[in-house]
Amino acid sequence: MAEEHLTAAQQAGLLQAAEEARKNAYAPYSHYQVGAALLTASGRIYTGCNIENASYGATICAERVAVAKAVSAGEKDFVALAVVADSTQPGSPCGICRQFLVEFAPQLLLIMGNLQGQVKVGRLDQYLPSAFNQEYLK
Ligand code: THU
Repeated sequence: MAEEHLTAAQQAGLLQAAEEARKNAYAPYSHYQVGAALLTASGRIYTGCNIENASYGATICAERVAVAKAVSAGEKDFVALAVVADSTQPGSPCGICRQFLVEFAPQLLLIMGNLQGQVKVGRLDQYLPSAFNQEYLK
């Protein structure tokens, strides 16, 4: 379950981890490098970068890499996700990533930044209202 707020220092630390992870982005096609850092309730941070492919549709976003690393390590309780890109406005998770994240943490705190230091903060449920979830499958 997401905490109500992170301190400014915690947010800055998560953005820094995302910026660092972005350096490993493999984006030879779009040249749009993205980094993500996912904070779990246990206090651990799982990072990710985008990994593109010559078969473009096989590309995976930074956010989903971070989630896959966390879940495969046995962690599914997410508090916040930072995403950083070199964009004119703070990076924003794509629709597939929003859906991927909502599975685990509808209230996830999103901390979106760019290399110019602009930051935008929001909740995942604001970014994916009326999300399809497991309730529909009952
Ligand atoms: N991408 C991400 O990794 N995360 C986002 O939030 C938006 C898009 C990647 C996918 C692709 O490698 C590149 O950015 C351009 O779409």
